[in-house]
Amino acid sequence: MVQPEEQARLYRPRPELLPAAHVPSLADYRRLYRRSVEKPQEFWGDVAKEFYWKQQQQPWVPFLWYNFDATKGRIFIEWMKGAKTNVCYNLLDRNVGEKKLGDKVAFYWEGNEPGDSMKITYGELLRKVCQFANVLHNHGVKKGDRISIYLPMILELVIAMLACARIGAIHSVVFAGFSADSLCERILDCGCSLLITADAFYRGDKLVNLKQIADEALQKSKDKGFPLKKCIVVKHLGREEIAADEEIAADGACSQSPPLKRLCQDVQEKKTESSQRLHPKIPWDPHMDVWWQDLMSGASTECEPEWCDSEDELFILYTSGSTGKPKGVLHTVGGYMLYAATSFKYVFDYQPEDIYWCTADIGWITGHSYITYGPLANGATSVLFEGIPTYPDAGRMWSIIDKYKVTKFYTAPTAIRLLMKYGEELVKKHSRKSLKVLGTVGEPINPEAWLWYYRVVGEERCPIVDTFWQTETGGHMLTPLPAATPMKPGSATFPFFGVVPAIVNESGEELEGEAEGYLVFKQPWPGIMRTLYGNHQQFETTYFKKFPGYYVTGDGCRRDKDGYYWITGRIDDMLNVSGHLLSTAEVESALLGHAAVSEAAVVSHPHPLKGECLYCFVTLKDGHEFTKDLADELKKQVREKIGPIATPDYIQNAPSLPKTRSGKITRRILRKIAQNDRDLGDISTLVNPGIINQLFNNRCDTKL
Ligand code: WTA
Repeated sequence: MVQPEEQARLYRPRPELLPAAHVPSLADYRRLYRRSVEKPQEFWGDVAKEFYWKQQQQPWVPFLWYNFDATKGRIFIEWMKGAKTNVCYNLLDRNVGEKKLGDKVAFYWEGNEPGDSMKITYGELLRKVCQFANVLHNHGVKKGDRISIYLPMILELVIAMLACARIGAIHSVVFAGFSADSLCERILDCGCSLLITADAFYRGDKLVNLKQIADEALQKSKDKGFPLKKCIVVKHLGREEIAADEEIAADGACSQSPPLKRLCQDVQEKKTESSQRLHPKIPWDPHMDVWWQDLMSGASTECEPEWCDSEDELFILYTSGSTGKPKGVLHTVGGYMLYAATSFKYVFDYQPEDIYWCTADIGWITGHSYITYGPLANGATSVLFEGIPTYPDAGRMWSIIDKYKVTKFYTAPTAIRLLMKYGEELVKKHSRKSLKVLGTVGEPINPEAWLWYYRVVGEERCPIVDTFWQTETGGHMLTPLPAATPMKPGSATFPFFGVVPAIVNESGEELEGEAEGYLVFKQPWPGIMRTLYGNHQQFETTYFKKFPGYYVTGDGCRRDKDGYYWITGRIDDMLNVSGHLLSTAEVESALLGHAAVSEAAVVSHPHPLKGECLYCFVTLKDGHEFTKDLADELKKQVREKIGPIATPDYIQNAPSLPKTRSGKITRRILRKIAQNDRDLGDISTLVNPGIINQLFNNRCDTKL
């Protein structure tokens, strides 16, 4: 368990380990920060000068134009409107031409199977993107058209996104773990004209027949009166098979590379019953479906970019909404490009020799901003990983770090907690000495996980950037800077450049000093979303109505006496016990502090006297047994960490927790389980729906 003094301790960065840091001290951060919020025009104007603008008004008029106050009319945000540019040109042509990075590796692709790998340079990426942009043109795709992309973590995913950006089409990437229903819903919402998908892929040893799911989605979409004309299919598994067959024929050697070996085995298995394993039947409609590779082979490697307005749409990315219907968050060209690039540069303290690896899937905003747009805008070399952390064993992450000599590593607390469960030995078997900066994103990180990441993974050498942000914000909002910010385990620390946070109470009054309440932002930063696709009114209501003049994050937050910000969890995950506001994240963190607990999720539960009470689900570490004594100990632990008001009424054993594909625990479902309500609504986004019945069976009907 983390002792209070340990949590309160400041973990100071060691600037000598990052001698060329962009922001070498807290004083430098403060100076730059002040300029960024007091003179955003000058600060971002300097950043904009590093990019290519086809037509720029001199000086920019106006550089920033907005209304953030719902009581004063329509909400709008415009950065550099009237200036013309192209994001793809800035990420590729500018780096290949002006910066002479044509031969630099843009991505090392590491497949699901160890040993399956490829790399692509900036020059090659530019040519492939141009080819695919021409393919899109040939299919009649024009500026402003929406294109849905449903692909696993392969290079074609980045190529497809950038090809859209090049011709001014709007991409809507749908995470390849989503169901046919979810894909169909997103296709219909944005009215896309074309779908890009792949034949199939492996996640660990599980085959995902993606094309079949895509076909189901297309059929559903047709049934709803929206038939698509074309589906472009990347031959991904098929391409491995072809490559293997060719190589086997060429030298007959099956023993050298692991993937080839596996394929050889599979080729042999072909003769046996298990031939379906590598050769799933790909459903095919010759009028509708066309192979990516066939289209690319005839396409020109040159394509003039479409010069877009800074405020033209760049992409739509769906995020879950409280109503249950996903919201199409829309980002635009100029502001998003500046923000993704700048936050990547400062938050990871990017240096030209870095090998950077973000383990997120591109299907989420983290992958958009910090695999595709941010790193490429900086000319960085990244690892793009198709697989999962536990395949073929739980040392995979560390072995990839050693293989590519990764210097900057960005992952999620849920992954850290998962790997923690496997113990230190597996980590220590690998060197990890290349690592310089570690990052986390997606949820509050509990101090135990933070300290494990810091001590075991980073060997107390690497600062941890705990980055708080959202799909809607486009990039980091609260975050340490690696060489400048003294860290506190579990705090996202201070605002990034251009970000003005505030904490307000229920009546919308700003709280000063030490305080807890709603986290809001006061003035626009370049990466903020501009609208919800096709529903500007919902955009205004969701983010700007509750507290006029502010963007509302939906997160609770505490500011401590040193001015550090601590995200306490979603406001909708807040609960009120006998008039006291409690955050579920806070209680979870207390439970995670116990040596027997590996995961915890807390939901609010109706209570006749207190209004609401705490119902806790806990997953135990291997070797621990769920008993009444343990439940009592856990209650005591929470009482001791937070106070008697937070004493849980229920503690339930949960062999695992229901999660979305991005690793978020679905508390909505846990609330229903706690109340024995089997009307669960849509559970198609769950990665492990099988756990639900078990959790119903384990319910605490009587208090422990
Ligand atoms: C949560 C992910 C605490 C938060 C980039 C936010 C975090 C939601 C952190 C957005 C963090 C993200 N500390 N909480 N470092 N990062 N969150 O849209 O509740 O998938 O509102 O974007 O994740 O999730 P989203």
